[in-house]
Amino acid sequence: MSAQSRLEDRFETHQHDVLVIGAGGAGLRAAIEALAQGVSVGVVSKSLLGKAHTVMAEGGIAAAMSNVDSADGWKPHFRDTMRGGKMLNNWRMAQLHAQEAPERVRELEQWGAIFDRTADGNILQRAFGGHTYKRLCHVGDRTGLEMIRTLQDRGVQQGFDVYMECTIVRLLTEGDRCVGAIGYWREQGRFVVFKANSVVMATGGIGKAWPITSNSWEYTGDGMALAYEAGAELMDLEFVQFHPTGMVWPPGVQGLLVTEAVRGEGGILRNKLGERFMEKYDPKRMELSTRDVVARSIYIEVKEGRGTEHGGAYLDISHQPAEYVKKKLPSMYHQFKELADVDITKGPMEVGPTCHYVMGGIRVEAETAQSTLPGLFAAGECAAGLHGANRLGGNSLSDLLVFGRRAGLAAAKHAKEVSAANVDPTQIDAAEEYALAAFQRPRGENPYAIHRDLQTTMQSLVGIFRVRGDVERALLELEKLNERWTQTSVEGSRMFNPGWHMALDLKSMLTISEAVARSALVREESRGAHSRIDFPELSAEWGTKNNIIKRAASGMTLRQDVKPAMPTDLQQVLAEDQG
Ligand code: FUM
Repeated sequence: MSAQSRLEDRFETHQHDVLVIGAGGAGLRAAIEALAQGVSVGVVSKSLLGKAHTVMAEGGIAAAMSNVDSADGWKPHFRDTMRGGKMLNNWRMAQLHAQEAPERVRELEQWGAIFDRTADGNILQRAFGGHTYKRLCHVGDRTGLEMIRTLQDRGVQQGFDVYMECTIVRLLTEGDRCVGAIGYWREQGRFVVFKANSVVMATGGIGKAWPITSNSWEYTGDGMALAYEAGAELMDLEFVQFHPTGMVWPPGVQGLLVTEAVRGEGGILRNKLGERFMEKYDPKRMELSTRDVVARSIYIEVKEGRGTEHGGAYLDISHQPAEYVKKKLPSMYHQFKELADVDITKGPMEVGPTCHYVMGGIRVEAETAQSTLPGLFAAGECAAGLHGANRLGGNSLSDLLVFGRRAGLAAAKHAKEVSAANVDPTQIDAAEEYALAAFQRPRGENPYAIHRDLQTTMQSLVGIFRVRGDVERALLELEKLNERWTQTSVEGSRMFNPGWHMALDLKSMLTISEAVARSALVREESRGAHSRIDFPELSAEWGTKNNIIKRAASGMTLRQDVKPAMPTDLQQVLAEDQG
């Protein structure tokens, strides 16, 4: 009997040309594109289909359609993205993104997305921080939700297979190539093997390593950790975005997103003294400054004693007509009414920074979204490059569409070109042993307690402002938490066991948190979302470097690679408007 058939006797096994891990916007768009290339596609989702952090990009999709501001075009969008990212962006990704986003939005519309309209029937666009023109195509404040609904309908109708509530624990490799993954059904706890010629990682970010976050339980850095464990390189993980406006009250909903569309529709930020404090920090762009600047400004106001009752800032849209607010911001209206008993058409909201997004992630090629591990592609938040040191609001949704499509295309091409994948049974055994280890340890560490301590460490020592001593302490804490993780124990059976799920998610969070802290320690400058109190200026030298994380036999390694120089045609595009 061959090793492959023994494997299939032991485990439920599925085979696809392309396996997509993650069912948010990037994963769904990749799957749709791969299907269109005539290959078989499986989509694995840790959660339920339709429940993705994509829905938390509420305010719109950034795409230079020029429907509202005719002067817009791919060049201004490229410039804004590069400037917002403090020039650390992969310039080729920023170019492709700006050029292709309008077509991806039109396509979404053809597939059934219903956007808000201009008087003459075009897709309506609104203002957002750091965007020179009104560029955000939107559906009230439910744009991400509409995007997921549309992509999901399209994908299911086109015929991809969906594996819901399935957590992947290891990627499988053959030589230096990725050939599939092993996971388990969250409900039953049974293992399941996926063989695939190409794998697309689209698992989102790592917000749950911080306690105040807009992210939900799924966002534990799994995709980045899986890629890292399989030998792929990660890049620029020090850049973690704190969205300026999350709810601060009541405590049960702290961190829940308050869309930037509130500011896009004219919302004003004030401190407890009634001062419109953005006049101090960015008098030109005010509330529509970039997220890194607005988040730091609120943080400083609170720290210096000018915060609101519950430690935030006031965000007020009540000067706009009530009917307008309810029409443009229906979710915000209901969110505050139902959760905080605040009527935002009559008075201000209380808001404060919330961990929202990570700009760093799996290192990919611009054209193909191919990682440094052949056969493994990555798109969306788990991939690095497009956003540089800070992402502009709305660029996440266009990123998902542009690079999700590119990842699906390249993954399908790769799947057709390579020979059929073989799975190494010893890797399956090792994955099984790893995943079940916590059941073998009676009375060990509680994974929830370690998670709480990880969140405290990341919030207090690797937050909005960083300083050498704090980050060094964080690394020592992470070492201790990793040690404690080796002693975690879970009780009960494998059937829907949340403690077991947490123990495995925790390892991903610890790995990626270490990558964040190591990268934050060596980048001795302040750039975008990375603010070092001890190095408050931009450094010309660091502006040419990406931090690269890779696994070695000795553990995590970190090196710097010099960014490729920008070609002269793009330099000219940047110089056309000195902004
Ligand atoms: O504020 C928002 O609606 C979030 C958008 C984004 O993260 O792109």
